[in-house]
Amino acid sequence: MKKEIVILIALILLGCQSLSSEKEQKVSFIQLREKMVTEQIEARGVKDKRVLAVMRRVERHRFVPQEYQRLAYRDSPLPIGEDQTISQPYIVGLMTELLRLSGDEMVLEIGTGSGYQAAILAELAKEVYTIEILEPLAKSAKIRLKDLGYKNIKVKCGDGYLGWEEFAPFDGIIVTCAPPYIPKPLIEQLAEGGRMVIPVGEYYQELKLLTKRKGKIQEQSIIPVRFVPMIHNERRGNPVNKEIKLPSPKVKGTISVEETISKRRSRREYKDEPLSLKEVGQLLWAASGITAKWGGRAAPSAGATYPIETYLLVGRVEKLDSGLYHYLPSSHSLIKVMEGSRPVDGMGGDLRRQLASAALGQGMIREAPITIVLAAVFQRTTGRYGKRGIRYVNMEIGHIGENIYLQAEAMDLATVAVGAFNDAAVKKLLRLKEEVLYLMPVGRQ
Ligand SMILES: Cc1cc2nc3c(=O)[nH]c(=O)nc-3n(C[C@H](O)[C@H](O)[C@H](O)COP(=O)(O)O)c2cc1C
Repeated sequence: MKKEIVILIALILLGCQSLSSEKEQKVSFIQLREKMVTEQIEARGVKDKRVLAVMRRVERHRFVPQEYQRLAYRDSPLPIGEDQTISQPYIVGLMTELLRLSGDEMVLEIGTGSGYQAAILAELAKEVYTIEILEPLAKSAKIRLKDLGYKNIKVKCGDGYLGWEEFAPFDGIIVTCAPPYIPKPLIEQLAEGGRMVIPVGEYYQELKLLTKRKGKIQEQSIIPVRFVPMIHNERRGNPVNKEIKLPSPKVKGTISVEETISKRRSRREYKDEPLSLKEVGQLLWAASGITAKWGGRAAPSAGATYPIETYLLVGRVEKLDSGLYHYLPSSHSLIKVMEGSRPVDGMGGDLRRQLASAALGQGMIREAPITIVLAAVFQRTTGRYGKRGIRYVNMEIGHIGENIYLQAEAMDLATVAVGAFNDAAVKKLLRLKEEVLYLMPVGRQ
């Protein structure tokens, strides 16, 4: 009997102790949240009072796995399983502020993750529709958000690239994973006057704000960011967005570096023959291919900022339609960004002819089966190095150009680095936002 009473008292004491430590924990989370908002979010310039208030209120630690709860209010993203992350608090604050929500909006979120961003949005907008492609995450986020009492959030497991047509148009769209391009269905599902916040790019990404006015999209770059890539298996229905995997590059050749250097010349005449997909893949790899596990590339780059984007203008390549393609180093693939035949200013439809004309009539561009277009995003490097970054980018184009020269020579191909062209005309023709620095036509010797 005595023994039972002792056990009972011990249990009551233990219960009280855990209750009080729970209370302490709660108080400490409130303090951490306050510090997070003041020091990480407000201090960096987020001003929207409603956003700041909601971020002070929503319990971020409930959206991370148990073992990371202590770190939930730190100034960093955290793993949430399935190789996915919950974004850094500041990025959540910034992206939410950019949507300028007043309370009546229908918002679409792509990339639910653990549901934290959806919870923040739900307190600031009327309805939130959120899509997650990974089923385990979609399921657990749905349960978590329901348990927390959110009634204005709909979670769906599906391909975010395609948006959620049934409930479109949306006043706000927020994408928390990075596609290489802005998905067309999302642009279509944005309401007139609506705002979309989306990270775009591969290894280097930029957070963009898109606004729709009179059916037209205005785009603004906000800051460089790093998000997990958007998973999208089927690029249905839009041939311009189709991703084409390139054959794996060879890393052993039959000719020495010394021989290649001594043979290399600028060559402006090419045989009237197409190139193979393998040859094209090899050249692009030599230009900007990934050669190190951490993302390092074939040519050196100041602070590994990789400011040069590689495009490919195709005239005659086996298994590739003519047109302009963007090379994606991380997947060693191409994405078509423009058809090859498009009448411009009464000059007929051939993009090669039009590019040759923009390059002051240099005829080899018209004749070459391909032209590699190297274009720079200066901000990636000046963002780190200030004005000196301009010098670095101009140096880097040389490294990439030389790699293309040597790789072409090693495959008995011919190329020339073309720097003389009308900048504005080339940019306009290829609809590029980057600054084009080199055009390198390549053909067979
Ligand atoms: C920055 C730069 C710009 C160039 N621009 C052109 C050009 O617009 N058209 C052209 O035919 N060659 C161009 N070239 C190639 C040079 O004419 C060529 O490298 C030079 O004549 C030396 O010949 P080599 O490359 O065969 O050694 C350019 C080269 C460099 C480095």
